[in-house]
Amino acid sequence: MKILLTGGAGFIGSHTAVELINNGYEPVIIDDFRNSKSFILKNIEIVTGKKIISYAEDLGNTAKLREIIEKEKPLGVIHFAADKAVNESVLNPIKYYKNNVVNLIKLVEIIDEYNIKSFVFSSSCTVYGTPDHTPVSEESDIKPAFSPYGFTKQVGEQILVDYFKNKNKACLTILRYFNPIGAHPSALLGELPIGVPSNLIPFITQSAIGKRGPLTVHGNDYSTPDGTCIRDYIHVVDLATAHVLALKKQTKPNRIYNVGVGKGFSVLEVLKSFEKVNSLKVNFQFGPRRSGDIPEIYANNNLIKKELAWSPKYSLENCLEHSWFWEQNLENF
Ligand code: UD1
Repeated sequence: MKILLTGGAGFIGSHTAVELINNGYEPVIIDDFRNSKSFILKNIEIVTGKKIISYAEDLGNTAKLREIIEKEKPLGVIHFAADKAVNESVLNPIKYYKNNVVNLIKLVEIIDEYNIKSFVFSSSCTVYGTPDHTPVSEESDIKPAFSPYGFTKQVGEQILVDYFKNKNKACLTILRYFNPIGAHPSALLGELPIGVPSNLIPFITQSAIGKRGPLTVHGNDYSTPDGTCIRDYIHVVDLATAHVLALKKQTKPNRIYNVGVGKGFSVLEVLKSFEKVNSLKVNFQFGPRRSGDIPEIYANNNLIKKELAWSPKYSLENCLEHSWFWEQNLENF
């Protein structure tokens, strides 16, 4: 069964392509490589031993998208293609509204035209804004977004919920990712940050390998046990398997799931764990809080465990080990 993966060469998309193939699906990747490199496609083929169908196209090119759908006839779509840098979204909001909202609407119009009945959407825990309580469940309030990026995820969810509400025979699953980290255990797939990484793990690995200076820990005066922010870090392969289960078990009514491990770790805990598991030292300094950071968020993941029988297989240590293998292997590509 063919499944169209928009942004399928990206960090989460590429790992999902592998898990789909492992489960008998045939991914069709469309990606403009703004956040990836073509060697990733080759590496998916090495990991799976299967030839990949892929198109180097911008999703906004609807004529091309129609051509691809007419040729490949996918039965479902997993929509990863989006911009995701919080800071950049503040500086260049229109880029985010165009790519994350306008292109989503164009895609929905096309799936409607071709009667595609299965849709999985990459959302984020950022939709909860600053939650009143942790862990957050799918029932928790959606608070105002604190970045245009966060707002595009809230709006994207709403557009899809409204569209699929009227479609009795088409199914929607929204996956709210917590903090995806790690890399494929083969060290052939992983994250490819552009420029200076704004996310924690890529900065740590780049600092450890000598590409960057010391890590700045953004704030140590939060109301958390060690004063640094707490997040729910999930291995990208565990996240990828959630997409496969979402497709396999998709039924009406439409569903929204948190995808996190259900446990929070502070920035300092992550740092110490990275040093311990990889037997190295990372230089760091404390800096001021980063604007837009919330002190603490982690998932209540009961719903996805119950309904999709999903559970995370990898520990934080596994994630940090795999991220480090990937960073070290990158010079080979
Ligand atoms: C953000 C988004 C999330 C998005 C993710 C990937 C929000 C609330 N979250 O996650 O939706 O999916 O980016 O783009 O919008 N940190 C440092 N030093 C660094 C980098 C990070 O101390 O150099 C700290 C941060 O302050 C934070 C933690 O590490 O406390 C995690 O940060 P990061 O990896 O950037 O992820 P989020 O901001 O949680």
